[in-house]
Amino acid sequence: MTEQLQKAQQALEANRARIDHTYKPRYHLSVPAGWLNDPNGFGFWKGKWHLFYQFHPYDSVWGPMHWGHWSGENLMQWREEPVALAPDTPSDAAGCFSGTALAADDTLYVIYTGVSEETPGGRQIQQQCMAESQDGIRFTKWTENPVIGRALLPEGACAWDFRDPKIERMGDGYRVVAASRGEQGGQLLSFRSEDLRTWRYEGVYAGSLGEMSECPDTFELDDKRVVIVCVMGAKDEHLPNSQPVVYMVGEERDGAFLPDTVMKGVDWGHDFYAPQTALAPDGRRILIGWALGWGQVQPTHTLGHGWAGMMTLPRECSQRDGVLYQKPAKEVLECRRTGGALPSMEVQGRRTLPECAGACREIEMTVDMRQAKRFTMNLMETGEERFVLNYDKATEVFSADRAACGYPLTEDGTPEKDPCVKVKAPLKAGKLKLHVFVDVSIIEIYLGDGETVLTCLAYPKAKDYGVSVQAEGLARVEALSSYAMA
Ligand code: FRU
Repeated sequence: MTEQLQKAQQALEANRARIDHTYKPRYHLSVPAGWLNDPNGFGFWKGKWHLFYQFHPYDSVWGPMHWGHWSGENLMQWREEPVALAPDTPSDAAGCFSGTALAADDTLYVIYTGVSEETPGGRQIQQQCMAESQDGIRFTKWTENPVIGRALLPEGACAWDFRDPKIERMGDGYRVVAASRGEQGGQLLSFRSEDLRTWRYEGVYAGSLGEMSECPDTFELDDKRVVIVCVMGAKDEHLPNSQPVVYMVGEERDGAFLPDTVMKGVDWGHDFYAPQTALAPDGRRILIGWALGWGQVQPTHTLGHGWAGMMTLPRECSQRDGVLYQKPAKEVLECRRTGGALPSMEVQGRRTLPECAGACREIEMTVDMRQAKRFTMNLMETGEERFVLNYDKATEVFSADRAACGYPLTEDGTPEKDPCVKVKAPLKAGKLKLHVFVDVSIIEIYLGDGETVLTCLAYPKAKDYGVSVQAEGLARVEALSSYAMA
């Protein structure tokens, strides 16, 4: 173990003892101590899932990046593994940024972005490095790193915005698609290799991705090719926010991705970024995202709780007619403790749902909106505090508003500029289908068949976690169920 890895592990142990658990989710993965951002190296190898993550063990804010690590037999019970990577070689002395894994028979490979302290153009450069492990726990970095260095970049691509390699097996060889900033802005570049060691530039895989793109994923799904990517500086009102995670469905031709759809939002909540997918042994495509985004400040940091960062639930992806559907993985539903179906009800005015209250809950319902104009669901409710979900039939807009829900996600505690997120979500046969997960400080909402998903954090000051519903007109709540989750 290198000195930097040892130091990182010791810092984690020391900081773990000082964590305040008030806002720690119980069935979502969260950082043991310190800071977490993107999921990394997500995949299944030798009978176990592995999930790494961007990790700063020394403080609950972003800093020189390490890779933290969990493993587990299923997607919900995870074991913490030792810190996997630390910035400790010349090619990654300033950080081990995001990357992906490749499972081979006896070896688990990871490819990640090494940020070096070299600053030829005035900024630290980013290149792609490899490490491997025989036991899935201890990783050895390759001495020939970087394997995809800046010399392979095409003209016009910057060496300081070149990151987040996604590796895939392709026929007899391998392909890496990595994010890059070119003269026209964000693009994805493709590289090929037969042996993982010698790489060549293949071409632009996808272009026109805002000012810069991050964390690309590309995979086959239901006979199509899907690309998921974070687009910085996208100015499109049909997308979630200024740094949206988008997906496109299409096909590959001559080494490039040809979308047959426009970019669509993967998640419409306040807090979702840098998702990765992995193939389960049974063929399911599972997605996990970082439940935050740049620019938000975690109250768990400002309150001095010693941790910041969590992941979404694992989601099963499918694709039909160019639309991506996400639903909670079946392993999530296996974590239900108590609860079940509740009687249908008519809602006119306001009604509390004590059976649905609690800090760790799953709530599912179908709302017949044919005689209602508006349906509202209040979560995390105590007195004046609430997280408000609202559906407005006239505009077909679903919104999630955390303005009245405890600590705002701002540096100085002043109210957020945009506490309310909105998404167009047409009813199906006059019905609104809602599947909601509440877990202490995170809420995930799946609408319809999972074509619209929202991930939102909220830090209520009070602790009742009450639930109420409200309708303008008459809403019939059918197929209602509620479970305690942890
Ligand atoms: C995305 C990102 C990546 C980068 C990593 C650094 O959230 O900015 O592009 O590799 O985070 O922590």
